[in-house]
Amino acid sequence: MGKPARPSFIVAVDGPAASGKGTIATRLAAELGLPVLDTGLLYRAVGVLMDRAGLSLDDEGAAAAAAATLSADLLSDPALRTRAAGELASRVAVHPRVRDALLEFQRTFARQDGGAVLDGRDIGTVICPEAPAKLFVTATPEVRAERRWKQLFAQGEEVSYEDVLADIRRRDARDGGRDAAPMKAAPDAALLETTEMTIEQAADAARRIVEAARVRWEALERDDR
Ligand code: CDP
Repeated sequence: MGKPARPSFIVAVDGPAASGKGTIATRLAAELGLPVLDTGLLYRAVGVLMDRAGLSLDDEGAAAAAAATLSADLLSDPALRTRAAGELASRVAVHPRVRDALLEFQRTFARQDGGAVLDGRDIGTVICPEAPAKLFVTATPEVRAERRWKQLFAQGEEVSYEDVLADIRRRDARDGGRDAAPMKAAPDAALLETTEMTIEQAADAARRIVEAARVRWEALERDDR
């Protein structure tokens, strides 16, 4: 007989573009000793594959087929981190069949032995509604645009602040307005409004929320045994 599986402590970090959720998720994972998955990369990869193949982003069948072929090396391609890839991702992410094709991979990752941290738009609502720790990270569009502009500038992308703000507003509207798994806070998510916070302060606040959730979860796990 193998060792009994350790229960999965799943941390769901959702929120809009450039809210800080990626940095928060990475730090939480390091502190908890858990693996982390940036689920946005999956949608970015599908968008980039479609674009490279010259296929229409509205072609749901082709996008779902692309989603079924993702490979680990594509996920580390720096092309996925560009401004253009964010827009491509949000356009393919509206398709229910694309979301379905990516669902099992995300759930399996989340439910691995010991648990995991996932960041995205629908982790707490659709992928892992059972997650014992859920955060919904927000900030005003203006502050998020400033953060994203600095990030893109550091990556060597020259774009105006106004254009980044327009991207963010467009993506917020599309991600929040779609029928399939729209971006929204789960009813049991802790809201973390980071407009006035540094990333250090936001990460500290997230850690406190997750520590409290972990204590509650461990008590429930003990009761179940
Ligand atoms: O880093 P940023 O927040 O700009 O984007 P991302 O997390 O990489 O996500 C890119 C796009 O993928 C989003 O605008 C969403 O349309 C989509 N996405 C999604 O629909 N569901 C997820 N769980 C993650 C991303």
